[in-house]
Amino acid sequence: MRDRGIRYGGDYNPEQWPEEVWSEDVTLMVEAGVNLVTVGVFAWGELQGGPRQELQSGWMDRVLSLLHSAGVGVDLATATASPPPWLSAVHPEILPVSATGVRLSPGGRQHYCPSSPAYRDAAIDLVRRMARRYGDHAALELWHIGNEYGCHVPACYCDVSASAFRRWLRERYADIDELNRAWGTTFWSQRYRSFDEILPPRAAPTFPNPTQRLDFARFSNDELLACYHAEKSVLRELTPDVPVTTNLMGLFRPVDGWAWGRQMDLVSVDRYPDPADPDAHVGAALVADLTRSLGKGRPWYLTEQAPGAVNWRRVNAAKSRGQFRSWSLQAVARGADAVLQFQWRASAAGAEKFHSAMVPHAGTDTHLWREVVTLGADLRRLAPVAGQPVPAEVAIALDWESWWALELESHPSAEVRQVDLLMEMYRPIYEAGIVADLTHPGADLSRYRLVVLPALYSVSDEIAANVDAYVRDGGVAVVTYFSGIVDTDDRIRLGGYPAPWQEMLGLSVEEFAPLPSGTSDPLTGPLASRTSHALRWEERVRLHGAEALLTIGGGPLEGGAAVTVHDYSRGTAYYLATSPDPVTTARVVAHAISRAQVASAASVPAGVEAVRRGEHLFLINHADGERRVDIGESARADLLTGSMHSGAVTLGQGDAVVLGPPQAPVR
Ligand code: GLA
Repeated sequence: MRDRGIRYGGDYNPEQWPEEVWSEDVTLMVEAGVNLVTVGVFAWGELQGGPRQELQSGWMDRVLSLLHSAGVGVDLATATASPPPWLSAVHPEILPVSATGVRLSPGGRQHYCPSSPAYRDAAIDLVRRMARRYGDHAALELWHIGNEYGCHVPACYCDVSASAFRRWLRERYADIDELNRAWGTTFWSQRYRSFDEILPPRAAPTFPNPTQRLDFARFSNDELLACYHAEKSVLRELTPDVPVTTNLMGLFRPVDGWAWGRQMDLVSVDRYPDPADPDAHVGAALVADLTRSLGKGRPWYLTEQAPGAVNWRRVNAAKSRGQFRSWSLQAVARGADAVLQFQWRASAAGAEKFHSAMVPHAGTDTHLWREVVTLGADLRRLAPVAGQPVPAEVAIALDWESWWALELESHPSAEVRQVDLLMEMYRPIYEAGIVADLTHPGADLSRYRLVVLPALYSVSDEIAANVDAYVRDGGVAVVTYFSGIVDTDDRIRLGGYPAPWQEMLGLSVEEFAPLPSGTSDPLTGPLASRTSHALRWEERVRLHGAEALLTIGGGPLEGGAAVTVHDYSRGTAYYLATSPDPVTTARVVAHAISRAQVASAASVPAGVEAVRRGEHLFLINHADGERRVDIGESARADLLTGSMHSGAVTLGQGDAVVLGPPQAPVR
């Protein structure tokens, strides 16, 4: 790929506009510093008029040469995300079916069954034609396969999917008795005589078999990935040198980011924090850290964000306080080499006409357009940061298979949600100015000083041993409740919870006691303040070696351990048997951070984000007012303005600096 610093641009849908608008588009792109646009994501209907027909490529040819002549690179979509009406008219069986048996109609988008051979054949035919036509086009930088896989249809329950599911199960279990064992079918008289009797977990009178649901989640992810892979194989064959990506959706449960990340040359993500949420930047940071981690630390692309409001929430708040800029800089700080938006020019028609865009309906004499141009200039100045790594000494474990199992029905509490627990543990690390990677719990953990395992409900023997070995070898682990509870078939690991880690944690759990929402119990002990309290969950813990840092101070479990620490061989294992209130959680995490000797990028006041990327220190003010940050006596140049800073930097609301390495102290 051409080296052009940070990429800036967005989804460009010229097919929605008369051709005379296109030249204005490229002129404005140049003015804004746009150097990459994603073209053709929903253009199948405009590119092909019927099954296996030649491409109607004239318009696309003209668009690509126009962009190229203006120096704008292209992330070319394979255009397979929204089949045109002719495809479902000829092949109605491609239309997906919901768990309740409703066949979804065309008229929206993504109306295809991922297992449908007719859909896959038509998609591959289109990709082949696109790659032949544009594979060696000078503007082509990157292939964008599909779009947000699984976003609207994460799983299909039709008869075609049912046969594909049976094939998938045969492959996994070979023998029906093995499936019966894994699924625990002696329960509720569910024993199958053959694979032919199995259906997807369609709507049932009560809880469907949990392992059937879990396997269906695995199958559905595999089927979506197979769609992606089918397209990627064509591109690899015809354009082996052009990298491929697809836009993931961050903490999106149906799609296993680790499996997908391995299949992408460049990992990319769409990120839409809610401007109405004063804490949105924290979740946005987590998604950035996740995306970087899915690509094993390589630079990633922010493929979509909104310059202003979206149109798909109930109430769609506009961005304020320089949020477009500060959230974009946050992405770059956390490893992004591209900041792309949905979309370039706001649509005049269709379901997204009220979604903001880089060129708003009101044109260029607007606040939003000026912000677009300002950000383009900022990103140009950040070129030295492109390609730089974001080092992390802390990791948070996330395993999609465990997440699928964690949030099945009929559990002790429906309020134990993966993303909530993840956020509760991530926030205090973020606020301490420490960058965390996300990691699969089975990966090599040895390069981290601290590993946090929030509600890692299901663990294989290998994962259980991996975490145990990490602590034995000197690591510091923080494990929360409802971790290590079942194996990968969702069968309980017997003998007290969490069976695989009792020795490591120095305790065992006899009984769960989740708290109804809105209730809490006080917490006491060395890490408690006067207002510390336990939320969501408690359990009856029996200590055998661990020391209680927090104790339940009321209710039926009064006197029981709530948070513990245990020295185990050369390492330390913390255990949270509850969700303490946020301030107390931060104290627990700070204890673990100090035990692990992890350093912050900078000591920052609340609301200021500090991240080190390469040799640059990003300081971004998300708070409601001005903030001062102490940066030490050495002078440091701000890459954004060229000004020198030393002592303290004052950041206005929404403002940021990107400081270079310290220079000689100012006398
Ligand atoms: C997703 C899609 C885009 C668009 C945006 C709107 O990210 O990929 O096509 O619909 O949402 O926010």
